[in-house]
Amino acid sequence: MKTIFFVFMPKGGVGKTTISILLTAEMLRRNKAVQILDIDRQQELKMWVDEWCTLNPDKANLIVDSKNERDCLIIDSKPGADDQFGASNDDILKTLAAWSQEQTVRVILPFLPGKQEIKALRVAIELLDQYAPTIPRGIIINRRKNSRIDTELIAEAKQISNATVLGYLTDLIAYREIKCEGKAVWQYETTAAISRFDDFVRVFNFRSKGDATREWAKVAKSLDQFMSVPG
Ligand SMILES: Nc1ncnc2c1ncn2[C@@H]1O[C@H](COP(=O)(O)OP(=O)(O)O)[C@@H](O)[C@H]1O
Ligand SMILES: [Mg+2]
Repeated sequence: MKTIFFVFMPKGGVGKTTISILLTAEMLRRNKAVQILDIDRQQELKMWVDEWCTLNPDKANLIVDSKNERDCLIIDSKPGADDQFGASNDDILKTLAAWSQEQTVRVILPFLPGKQEIKALRVAIELLDQYAPTIPRGIIINRRKNSRIDTELIAEAKQISNATVLGYLTDLIAYREIKCEGKAVWQYETTAAISRFDDFVRVFNFRSKGDATREWAKVAKSLDQFMSVPG
């Protein structure tokens, strides 16, 4: 199945790039041919993909650069609503609306529980309703802390968006193997502290004891359903 994912939220720091990377990694793990479109001026998704290709030369042909070759296109979007780099969100949404006549297009909304993020979600939904009302939307709740205020904000986000909740990510934890006097011991760090281009590349290969793999596995499972519902 050919699918386009637009990872969209007109606010920086909510997890768009992180989720774009996780999505790309997921599709590559499924041996899908992936094309990326990185509209974030920091180009971190692109850098991650380049690094992944270097580390996985035997699978590097899964990264493609044409519409005909791809199974899926993953679009990471701008860090903020006012960023002038690349195409505007409005233009992307208009284009996606046109493409959705023939292709499976899905919008993924990373939501980080917070007051500012509620505002950004409202803006995102307004833009979607205006330019791409028929494209299905799925929310990934990012960095949930399980606090009462989070629960309230998540309920508000669900109500505002009327979107499918694809799953929850708390602070992602990847385990790194540390050898001590020849013996393997385990240590963990959060992704905020580790380099995306190192541990993120291998996060699915880790002998992970943490929640990261389990949490993502749930999201990945709900993606299948999300991709198959008629748009
Ligand atoms: N679930 C998470 N757990 C730990 N760190 C995270 C998580 N999501 C995002 N981060 C970190 O938060 C920062 C902002 O995330 P990023 O994906 O770059 O957001 P955006 O692309 O929306 O600006 C990055 O340093 C990233 O590593
Ligand atoms: Mg980003």
